[in-house]
Amino acid sequence: MKETFNSKIGAIAAAAGSAVGLGNVWRFPYILGEDGGGAFLLLYIICMLFIGVPVMISEFVVGRMSGKPVATAYSSLVGDKRWQLIGVGGTLVAFLILAFYTIVSGWTLYYCYLSLTGQLSGLDEPQIKEVFTQTAADPVTCIIWMIIVTTITAAIVARGVTAGIERVSKILMPILIILIVLIAIRAMTLDGGMEGIVFMLTPDFEKINSKAFFDALGQAFFSASIGMGCMTTYGSYISKQSNIAGTAIWVSMIDFFIAFMSALMIFPCVFAFGISPSEGPGLVFVSLPNVFNQMPMGQLFQTMFFFLLFIAALTSVISLLEVVVTFVMERFGLKRRAATVASAIAITIPGIICAFSSATFDFFDKITASVMMPLGAIFIVIYVVHLLGRDRVRGEFEAHGKKSKIFNVYFFLVKYIVPVAIALIFINGVIDWIM
Ligand code: PHE
Repeated sequence: MKETFNSKIGAIAAAAGSAVGLGNVWRFPYILGEDGGGAFLLLYIICMLFIGVPVMISEFVVGRMSGKPVATAYSSLVGDKRWQLIGVGGTLVAFLILAFYTIVSGWTLYYCYLSLTGQLSGLDEPQIKEVFTQTAADPVTCIIWMIIVTTITAAIVARGVTAGIERVSKILMPILIILIVLIAIRAMTLDGGMEGIVFMLTPDFEKINSKAFFDALGQAFFSASIGMGCMTTYGSYISKQSNIAGTAIWVSMIDFFIAFMSALMIFPCVFAFGISPSEGPGLVFVSLPNVFNQMPMGQLFQTMFFFLLFIAALTSVISLLEVVVTFVMERFGLKRRAATVASAIAITIPGIICAFSSATFDFFDKITASVMMPLGAIFIVIYVVHLLGRDRVRGEFEAHGKKSKIFNVYFFLVKYIVPVAIALIFINGVIDWIM
């Protein structure tokens, strides 16, 4: 029998498990910091609402309608092999994201170990920064922890996704949310912490430019796991009784809430401890240990935080590896286990390259989120509008037996707004990036 998630909540929890991860806690704050705060937040909300949500719904539609992973979903529904291109592209994106994502996941696990053994306790700001600099610059540490992460992920994916993921996501995600809220409260009450809140909430309209738009679009895609087939694959596990548009809206709201809370937790620390908001990919690792050192039971909270962040990352790595594994299964006719082992070994190669070269790391980060995922989304919405067409899509919207109130708005967005908006932001952004 085909695997499906057992409950509506299960489907939401699993898709949210893919969406919520390092994108929210690690990437969102550092990009927001680099792009100047409040203006970026505004652009991000616009991108998510008018582009991200409709694209996520579209992926769920294709996934559930076809009942297939992204490798074959698009071709099977229209009987045209050329549409496998979306699957091939998506797999490539998953592969490139995994390269740096498993490294950052490794850092979270390593930080969990460092806090558990008290190695971060009592350090001052420059020392904390030094720990991160050394970690990121040491390929051996990066590779060892990356391999641990990859092995754990492979062990879970080899058993099949729905059983494990559903359970883990449902229990641990809520705990992570509570912890983030607690830390955010502590951070906001730091001396000078409020300045961080002002920074992230006041839009400086001069900072609204094509680069910030390009970054916001990329961040929305990266954070919601859309534009590369992950949500198509997860859509195929959603049962026919679920309301897919509602599921996508829930997942996006949870995803946004956690990103926003993460920024609320990090920026007060950044300002209270005099860290640069444009610190880059190290931001979460250099800012948070400072606040833990000032909290009662800080070491305990710190260990729990990095552990839960690792779990959040893990559910995302699982969804990425799932895309690669299902592709290998369909393409090469391998069984799940063999396909998982082969894929896990294959992804360590670009991972090792990223561990040695931070330029490659940054390049993969940018090219996947800002370039490949928005491009993928254009193909996905064109496919939904022009190949599936209004009636089939509406049928999938209403498969659970209720009339959809938002279908017309959705269809208008994917038909006109989404492709044009992506194209405009994309062209301006790329010109900007290359110049
Ligand atoms: N959305 C995940 C995060 O925010 C990353 C991810 C991207 C996962 C693409 C799957 C596919 O961390």
